[in-house]
Parts: sequence; C-alpha cells; structure tokens
Amino acid sequence: MRDPSIRRSVALFRAFLREQTDPEHCYRLLARDAAQQLTRYGGPLRGRVVVDVGGGSGHFTEEFRRHGAHGYLFEPDTGELNSRLNYGLSSRGHPPAGAVLADGYLLPLADGVADIAFSSNVLEHVADPYTFLSELVRVTRPGGLIYVSYTNWLSPWGGHEWAPWHYLGAERARARYRRRTGRAAKHTLGENLFPLHIGPVLRHVRGRADVTVVSARSRYWPFLTEAVTRVPGLREVATWNLLLILRRSP
Ligand SMILES: C[S@@+](CC[C@H](N)C(=O)[O-])C[C@H]1O[C@@H](n2cnc3c(N)ncnc32)[C@H](O)[C@@H]1O
Repeated sequence: MRDPSIRRSVALFRAFLREQTDPEHCYRLLARDAAQQLTRYGGPLRGRVVVDVGGGSGHFTEEFRRHGAHGYLFEPDTGELNSRLNYGLSSRGHPPAGAVLADGYLLPLADGVADIAFSSNVLEHVADPYTFLSELVRVTRPGGLIYVSYTNWLSPWGGHEWAPWHYLGAERARARYRRRTGRAAKHTLGENLFPLHIGPVLRHVRGRADVTVVSARSRYWPFLTEAVTRVPGLREVATWNLLLILRRSP
C-alpha cells in the first residue's frame, strides 16, 4: 500500500485495534509496511545488512529476510523474544533463527557493520534514549540509514495500554487499567516507559554531526506527515508516532 495513503492508515489502524486478539496479523502488517518504508528511503533491501534493535518477537526481522536482507534481531528480553510462543503454536511462533539476546545500549557489533539500523517503538522504553541512538549510529556504516520510531508521551497513544488516560496522570491511568481489566498494566512510568517528547529529540538529532535527518515524520498518518512535526506544541499531540530516518554521515 502506498505511503502515505488513507487506505494504508486505515488498514494499520484496524490492525492496531485487533492487536490483542490477533497480534500476528497486526505485526506482520506493520512489518510489511516498515519494509516498504525502508525500501522507499534506501532502495531494495536485498543483500543489505539490517539490524533490528529491540525487535521483540522478530516480525520485522523476518520480513526483512523475506525481502532478501541479512536481517539480525537483537532483543534483551526473553519474554518478548518468545512472546509468539504464547499465541502461535506453529513454527512461526518461534523467534527468527540466530536472534541475539542483547541490550541496545551495548550491541555486540563492530562499528559500521550495518547498512540499516532499525528500531521500532523502542526509544520510549529506554531510560537514556540518546545513548541508545548513539549505539544505533555507531553500528551503521557511513551513508547507511537509521530508522527510529517511537510513540511520544503526549500522543493519544502515549500511555500505551492505559492511553488516553495518561493525560490525567500515569498513576491514575494505571490504576484505572487495573480496575477495568483486573490485570496489572505491563508498563510503569519510569521503569519501562518514559515520557519522551518530540521537540527535544528533533533538536538532538539535528544537532548531531554524525547524522543528517532525511525525514522526520508521522509514521502512520495519511497526510501532512512531515508538516505536522514542524509545528511545536501541535506535533506533540498530533504526530502520534514519530519516525526518524537518519543518514550516517561519511
Ligand atoms: C513495544 S516493544 C517493540 C517491539 C518491536 N520493535 C515492535 O515494533 O513491535 C519494545 C521493545 O523494546 C525492547 N527494549 C527495551 N529496552 C531495550 C534496550 N535497552 N535495548 C534494546 N531493546 C530494548 C523491549 O524488550 C521490547 O521488545
């Protein structure tokens, strides 16, 4: 599906709504979409080395491999890595072969080995996003691409499973989630979810000498994808999920 297009955004949104009941469909669609985005910004993936950092259960890595890339998955949490075992009993329920248990702050990779460093929806889950970003940059070859997306705190989805009640405060939103579902929330602010905004991250990447910003855009919106990120204040609420495409400087 063409990006951006209303059809694509609607398909992604509908898949998100079914994320709890049909995660396989949701993440496969998202992975296909991400592979198309990478192709659009950096050309065909065939033969490219793509490192997927914080790749969870590996849908993205699998999709990159389907496109002929050398896809490598780095994920620090065995629970995330094996999460498909809980909902898929087929062989597709296993993480991709060769997945590496590793922290994105300290990747077991030499400098400049990746054509593309890819990280989807991880930045808001790390306490030090700039060190995490620096590690992505370090492992990317000069001229290579860095794909980073995250849901910012003031996005309507910023509170993740307790959104949009995070606008009333994280503690209240978590308590409400527990009351309503009878389950403890997966995310705790300051532990595995951090209030990351758009303005400071844009200023940070624009100020770095080791990357240029190819695009700063809304990942899922069907229109005004780059325009929305240029408006301070509005962008914090309306971008929904920031996608940064960076190029490693020579
Ligand atoms: C919301 S999930 C995103 C999974 C997948 N990338 C996606 O887009 O569906 C966040 C992931 O970030 C991972 N993560 C958290 N801290 C990390 C770190 N320091 N280094 C690498 N990954 C981390 C988590 O284990 C989890 O798999």
